[in-house]
Amino acid sequence: MTKPERQIDWAMAREMFRRAFRTSFHYGIATVDEDGAPHLTPIGSVLLNDPGRGIFFDIFSSQLSQNLDRDPRVCVMAVDSGKSFWLASLIRGRFTAPPALRLTGTAGPRRPATPSEQQRWLRRVRPLRRLKGHQLLWGDLTHVRDLIFHTALPVQLGTMTSNLETQAAARQAEGDPADGHPLNHHTA
Ligand SMILES: Cc1cc2nc3c(=O)[nH]c(=O)nc-3n(C[C@H](O)[C@H](O)[C@H](O)COP(=O)(O)O)c2cc1C
Repeated sequence: MTKPERQIDWAMAREMFRRAFRTSFHYGIATVDEDGAPHLTPIGSVLLNDPGRGIFFDIFSSQLSQNLDRDPRVCVMAVDSGKSFWLASLIRGRFTAPPALRLTGTAGPRRPATPSEQQRWLRRVRPLRRLKGHQLLWGDLTHVRDLIFHTALPVQLGTMTSNLETQAAARQAEGDPADGHPLNHHTA
């Protein structure tokens, strides 16, 4: 039997997603093809909201969108690719924060984006606003999909991440509300 994995709290998941965007500029969204084959798409515009909730702008995709219309299941992966984060962790021999995270859940139907959703994304890419590509990529943010997640599992890297597991277990044993199972309300 495999060891049960420990979910991380939503604040930590959001922080992980911020780091991943800063260093990787995209997340991997896995969906399922018509024939059951896995399909992976790079998507930069994932925005996490309340616990277990998020959106992404569904603008350029084709296969991803078709897959989700047929089968809403998704797995979203975020990786911190920061060179200094990795170098410091390698020198130390352990990670002080998860190097990667997988969120699993479902995506809703493609729907018109609200002005506040559009503004939220435009704030994120504001430093790039004077560049030619800004308008080409984000000038027409018409549609989003809602994301609902039921698990948030950090990626394990042997002894380099075992200290994070131990810390999370200790916090949970002490009943620290910052390390509960914040996605439970979606799975109850
Ligand atoms: C770094 C990166 C970020 C991207 N972000 C988005 C995005 O937020 N929304 C979108 O609709 N397409 C985005 N794309 C474009 C899709 O990944 C691209 O159109 C892809 O070919 C869609 O593939 P699929 O629908 O066949 O899976 C991004 C591409 C890259 C390389």
